[in-house]
Amino acid sequence: TSGHLRHVESMAQLPSGAGRISHLNAVVLGESLASEEHDLVFPSPEFSSQALLSSPEHGFWSEIAKEFYWKKGWGDGPIVEQNLDVRKGTVKIEWFKGATTNICYNALDRIIGRGDGNKIALYWEGNEPGHDAKLTYNELLEKVCQLANYLKDIGVKKGDAVVIYLPMLMELPIAMLACARIGAVHSVVFAGFSAESLAQRILDCRPKVIITCNAVRRGPKVIHLKDISDAALLECVNNGVSVGVCLTYENQSAMKKEATKWVEGRDIWWQDVTPKYPTTCAVEWVDAEDSLFLLYTSGSTGKPKGVLHTTGGYMVYTATTFKYAFDYKPSDIYWCTADCGWITGHSYVTYGPFLNGASVLVFEGAPNYPDAGRCWDIVDKYKVTLFYTAPTLVRSLMREKTEYVTRASRKSLRVLGSVGEPINPSAWRWFFNVVGDSRCPISDTWWQTETGGFMITPLPGAWPQKPGSATFPFFGVQPVIVDEKGNEIGGECSGYLCIKSSWPGAFRTLYGDHERYETTYFKPFPGYYFTGDGCSRDGDGYHWLTGRVDDVINVSGHRIGTAEVESALVSHPQCAEAAVGIYAFVTLIDGVPYSQELRQSLVLAVRSQIGAFAAPDKIHWAPGLPKTRSGKIMRRILRKIASRQLDELGDISTLADPSVVDQLIALTDS
Ligand code: WT7
Repeated sequence: TSGHLRHVESMAQLPSGAGRISHLNAVVLGESLASEEHDLVFPSPEFSSQALLSSPEHGFWSEIAKEFYWKKGWGDGPIVEQNLDVRKGTVKIEWFKGATTNICYNALDRIIGRGDGNKIALYWEGNEPGHDAKLTYNELLEKVCQLANYLKDIGVKKGDAVVIYLPMLMELPIAMLACARIGAVHSVVFAGFSAESLAQRILDCRPKVIITCNAVRRGPKVIHLKDISDAALLECVNNGVSVGVCLTYENQSAMKKEATKWVEGRDIWWQDVTPKYPTTCAVEWVDAEDSLFLLYTSGSTGKPKGVLHTTGGYMVYTATTFKYAFDYKPSDIYWCTADCGWITGHSYVTYGPFLNGASVLVFEGAPNYPDAGRCWDIVDKYKVTLFYTAPTLVRSLMREKTEYVTRASRKSLRVLGSVGEPINPSAWRWFFNVVGDSRCPISDTWWQTETGGFMITPLPGAWPQKPGSATFPFFGVQPVIVDEKGNEIGGECSGYLCIKSSWPGAFRTLYGDHERYETTYFKPFPGYYFTGDGCSRDGDGYHWLTGRVDDVINVSGHRIGTAEVESALVSHPQCAEAAVGIYAFVTLIDGVPYSQELRQSLVLAVRSQIGAFAAPDKIHWAPGLPKTRSGKIMRRILRKIASRQLDELGDISTLADPSVVDQLIALTDS
């Protein structure tokens, strides 16, 4: 193996007391560690203070941060203040506190200021082939400013929440950037979420305004987003919360203005107001630690968590991870298939790329419409060089005929990316060999809504890849694998993935619930941030993510809490209890007969309360559920029954009623 791999191996052997050692230092010190086992030879403060690279907490991130515009700098003090150890008090993470900046200014005005105003910022490809549009950085800034001025005019101020419920139109990143420009806190809700999910989020963050559109086409279907917004806003009024303004974009290709239902006094057409406002708008300078956005994500209880990200650290982190993990060059054309309703669309459709002055493609439609070759046609049409997607999409397209891929040349492609769940080696190889013609490295980026940006990711030009491994940590990130007692384990091992020490893109709290933040992420393994993922590390130091270890599941790359699906099922009047994998075991009220209709109406309950993407594929009737004597559902046994691994049920003698297992098996294909 290369010299680099030897360094990584020696890092894995760091004694657990070596908390102060950063990744960068450890790499620099690798050789001496390998020879002297437990000696840590630190650079002197005199050396560090003048070094090109020093530890992430000190020189490293502040050097990088200087590439951005700060209205007021962070002075000479430390750039980070952090406590990740619940035993030492409240968990707190602050980067560049006291400095002021604006992320919209850095993403647009700064790029224009360096001479790229006429560069294309956004290419937009509509659902129907041939329907497209584009905006230069100058034009994008003008649109952002007009909307920002309108929002200010209706009273949206720094710190106010704005809910955005839009599909992948150019107006979605425009709306995010407009909020950021005036210091408002955006909360984008994925346009696949149901009215109830939207209402739940509005009730939590209480926005002054919601921004939506009348309808959108996804493949052959038309989705009436304004009707869903209306239903959500009505639900909110019934719960005592009224949102003053519903700013609605007329998406003409899906639905005409005239056909849209309208609430006078509350609803405003985007196109009626924004053109009237000036195309320049003064920037609201905010503290590096002022809130940038809230994004709700599923946890292991029913209530979604409002993940809060702040401005300065997030800006520096998303821009830098984007640049290095995709080997970004100014001539690149970048396409990320994620929706802005998820963190990937925040960090790597909007902020990271624009902060680098990149040309970004936004696609409104579905990847298999009009046929399974659409993605590769788009790659050729725009000469896409960097293509970032999810394993679920790779797997669905790899089931189709290879001609769908090979009818496009794809010769512009340079780097491929994957995110959302572990990419199985066979999907990796198809992506690499067929889509990338064995030329393009794959950046398998492991990260989370909470981490803001990439944590474990290939640097595509720097080290060899292994299909299915996210490889090594990004600069300054210190992943550790711990056992169930929270002891760090070194070398080749497998356990729970935690992170030691903060990074600039880390989330700072859960909105309105700092206690839940500490309980969920910092109490399970005191001293560390707990990711909720299992991970193993091989003999070469490569990381292999093995999936969630909590009650969170991944449905088509979307994170969803089992508890949310369960609560949607049990809200059905004929359902007594439910336990959800991707596969739902459902217990009915005594005496209710099993039927196909009932199955369908249960699935409908999940679709309407969460969204179609969360609907279970399978409902398995369960006269009873396997529970311990203390009432805990033994999911391990359910998983085995669902996957028909009946000879691997393990010990069932601890169940309160072992006979339920036979009953469940008997009902397998009923
Ligand atoms: C969870 C986070 C981060 C953007 C998309 C999902 C899983 C994510 C990978 C990867 C293996 C991955 C983890 C993580 N995950 N990327 N490259 N390899 N697993 O964001 O909804 O916050 O979900 O997605 O389980 O914890 P999210």
